[in-house]
Amino acid sequence: MGIVRPSVTKTFGILTAGGDCPGLNAAIRGVCRAAYDRYGMTIVGIVNGYRGLIDEYVRVLRPVDFAGILTRGGTILGASREKPFKAQGKDYDIVGDKVAAIKETYHKLNLDCLVVIGGNGTNTTGYLLSREGLNVVGLPKTIDNDIVGTDRTFGFHSALAIGTEAIDRLHSTAQSHSRVIVIELMGHKAGWLALYAGVAGGGDVILIPEIPYDIKVIGRHLAERTRSGKTFSIVVVAEGALSVEEAAMEKKERKKYREQTVTPSIAYRVAREIQAETGMETRATVLGYVQRGGIPSASDRVLATSLGTAAAELLAKGDYGRMVALSGNDITSVDLSVPAGKTKPVPQDHYMIDTAVSVGTCMGTD
Ligand code: F6P
Repeated sequence: MGIVRPSVTKTFGILTAGGDCPGLNAAIRGVCRAAYDRYGMTIVGIVNGYRGLIDEYVRVLRPVDFAGILTRGGTILGASREKPFKAQGKDYDIVGDKVAAIKETYHKLNLDCLVVIGGNGTNTTGYLLSREGLNVVGLPKTIDNDIVGTDRTFGFHSALAIGTEAIDRLHSTAQSHSRVIVIELMGHKAGWLALYAGVAGGGDVILIPEIPYDIKVIGRHLAERTRSGKTFSIVVVAEGALSVEEAAMEKKERKKYREQTVTPSIAYRVAREIQAETGMETRATVLGYVQRGGIPSASDRVLATSLGTAAAELLAKGDYGRMVALSGNDITSVDLSVPAGKTKPVPQDHYMIDTAVSVGTCMGTD
């Protein structure tokens, strides 16, 4: 440690929550190295997301704990999808409220602030905890890239590279067998990953939740490809993609319809629909958790490290209730109320949709 600068925050807790993604450890390292080396802060690692605060499952982190983790996938702190503000779980009906347990742990550990690294749900919980009187700083991570307030989330770039490689690999087998192959990528509410990987991999059809698809339009597009001598096609579908018929349904009706038809997942339904519509031999592939595993890309390491060190600066200043963010080429921060309770869909007029259409990709609609 060099010269230790003055800091408002003396001790903080750090957790990772929600689905994991490449870059979490790089972010932990960024926050911890700057907080420890520059400001001499004491760091309490909270295990398994908000669950660790409820159960007081914590350990003090020393430099050895955050050394050598920059390139590692996953999270050294563990993660969970615990949402303390949602309906109380069985366990806690007896011993009391989860939010109260979190506040108790926070005060018992003498934390000056809580650093929460996560997606929409995690930052929303962070915002709600800040309204309960806790000091919170958030960091935006997710392969879905759907957090309001930041231009990009870390994890997205790594997942994009994996999705693109998968599409590349499907091309040769689809061509060999003259098949249509439908590949499903993650993204239940937003189609960023499918759209970007679809463009990067040269998908012939890209289906995202923001643009309901018409199977007849897809059928015509694939038939036209066949007429022009192309014997195979790749269809990239986001897990939350939906048809025009579904889009017209009430929420309850749509939920029921999807339970009946999206089996085992949307890629299989789309493959069945394409085969029925065109008579072409069609296969489905679901990339699944491969997208979230493994080492972060160089770009995600850089973003996660920059956001992490920026979070340490907020801690030092005592500038709480904020989420660090990327804005253009700058690292900045926004009030935690900005991402809270929201999802960032692909805008209908996003240039990437136009890019896809301009290179002859069908977005599922005319
Ligand atoms: O992290 C977000 C995400 O990748 C979504 O795209 C996907 O729907 C979800 O996680 C699935 O994660 P899990 O099965 O861990 O809840």
